Amino acid sequence: MPDKHTQHKSKYTADRMIPGAFEGETVTRRRFMTGTAHTAGAIAAASFALPALGFAIGPIFKQSPHFWEDIGSTEDFTAENYVPVVITITQGIGEAGKSTAYVRKFNPAIDTDPYDRNTPYIAISTRCAHLGCPVRWVDAAERFICPCHGGVYNLLGQPVGGPPVRPLDRFPTRLSGDRVQLYSGRFSVNSELRRFSPRDPGEPLDGIGQYLYPSRPSARKL
Ligand code: FES
Repeated sequence: MPDKHTQHKSKYTADRMIPGAFEGETVTRRRFMTGTAHTAGAIAAASFALPALGFAIGPIFKQSPHFWEDIGSTEDFTAENYVPVVITITQGIGEAGKSTAYVRKFNPAIDTDPYDRNTPYIAISTRCAHLGCPVRWVDAAERFICPCHGGVYNLLGQPVGGPPVRPLDRFPTRLSGDRVQLYSGRFSVNSELRRFSPRDPGEPLDGIGQYLYPSRPSARKL
């Protein structure tokens, strides 16, 4: 006599003594309806959730195109002081795509980072490295000041007071004849002005910070 483990189990529900089973059926109607309702529910939930998820995380991977833009003539800038220029960060969205940068000529007396030597002009972002408020260059104090929480940066954009966790971001620049051009894709720097792919405000770049806060996938990699 076969033991109960090797006994073949009938595929018919009636043979398996399932309540409400009909002769010849292999799946009870209750189980069939339950499965159908669950499948329909899953499809309905997915039809709401997937598009919402796509909208939520899609922009993280979408890279907005960067470009070189003309910001003025070589005569417009000096090595001693910053000049504010309005720049376009994102094209095609009008005023919302604009920002401001402070630009001055490369000054070998203060710009000691070797990377800066390839940059004829220093262009500093006005986006505060604390929470992103616009900073203002105060000539008399030779400081960038943030009005939101009292962040203070020195001439090189390094924080010297308040809550900012890293220096102000920068933009690459180049010369085209006697015209100065700025690249719309910013880069971030650590306290020694070493370059990194752009980080968001509030993300430190010194020590372990550079690993804890990696650049977003949509950001231009250096
Ligand atoms: S946003 Fe600039 S100090 Fe807070």
